[in-house]
Amino acid sequence: MEQLKMTNLDFNGRVAIVTGAGQGMGREHAKMLASRGARVVVNDVNAANAAEAVAEITNAGGTAVVDSHNVVTEAPEIVQTALDSFGQLDIVVNNAGINAFGRFWEMEADTWWRIFDVAVKGVVGVSRAAMPHLIASGTGRLINISSNGVMGVPTDSAYNAAKAAIWGLGITLAAEAREVGVQVTTLMPVALTPMTEDAFPNPVIKDAMRTTVPASSVSAFVTWLAHQDTAVFGETFEIAGVAAGRVAIAGMPRMKVEAPTPESWADSGEVLMKDGELRAFRNASESFRDQMVYLAPELDEVLPANAADVSR
Ligand SMILES: NC(=O)c1ccc[n+]([C@@H]2O[C@H](COP(=O)([O-])OP(=O)(O)OC[C@H]3O[C@@H](n4cnc5c(N)ncnc54)[C@H](O)[C@@H]3O)[C@@H](O)[C@H]2O)c1
Repeated sequence: MEQLKMTNLDFNGRVAIVTGAGQGMGREHAKMLASRGARVVVNDVNAANAAEAVAEITNAGGTAVVDSHNVVTEAPEIVQTALDSFGQLDIVVNNAGINAFGRFWEMEADTWWRIFDVAVKGVVGVSRAAMPHLIASGTGRLINISSNGVMGVPTDSAYNAAKAAIWGLGITLAAEAREVGVQVTTLMPVALTPMTEDAFPNPVIKDAMRTTVPASSVSAFVTWLAHQDTAVFGETFEIAGVAAGRVAIAGMPRMKVEAPTPESWADSGEVLMKDGELRAFRNASESFRDQMVYLAPELDEVLPANAADVSR
């Protein structure tokens, strides 16, 4: 790949918004982008933290401004800050998030929806406001922060549901936005930050995380994805420290019943629950095609790889 040969990813002339950049990973992303020449909008509802992050950037010779709008209710204003301050927008890192734990049926509805909204309404609102400017950039980059929580963590249903929504949005948006020159990628990071500081009480785990996955360790990956020469379309990555991998949905082996009756499925439960070779799906077309060819093998010749793409 072209970018593997690069020695220096430079962001001169680029403008970035990082949401939730007052602390944790967001602050580190903002600092790294600024250290390489990007002019950065440091967004956070915690204005004091955002100001501290901006001071760190400017003291190091970078350019950044504070924006304390709320991603849920004031997304267009965040984009406007970039335009008013720097006249353009090339990169958005949708990083703001909150979390709280409690059983689904015990958590106050307001709390549940607040967690969900910061993630989903935040990403949707900021991305919608940003898209025309990312398109105008010619090499727009949109990076959405999801979580491996999409695979389930008890007592974290609002967060996980929201992060799954961000994941699904990203897969679809990546395909749509590619046609207009904007690269959309989704990250499932792991890092020791104020958000996760108390989630791992075991000191051995926490010490290992402090060394291997400090908040700053994800920023190099974000910065690589944010660069105008990076061409990675429609992917989701797990990223933890110096380790990363692509994420896909995997299906266990399929089975068929003789007739579609509840009794046939009841008799087949054991077979259905057996693990086996996995099939990886990156999008709905791959899953749809795989299911249809399994049922009607003659479709193998007929079904296009993008069978579930209704935009054609
Ligand atoms: N830390 C991890 O291991 C981990 C794992 C998976 C995903 N994530 C995700 O990564 C992102 C960053 O997480 P972190 O661990 O650095 O968290 P963090 O709590 O340290 O930082 C999140 C920041 O978002 C800000 N924020 C919250 N609501 C906001 C709003 N409405 N508008 C603007 N800013 C708002 C907070 O003030 C805070 O500064 C989050 O989206 C989080 O869900 C983190």
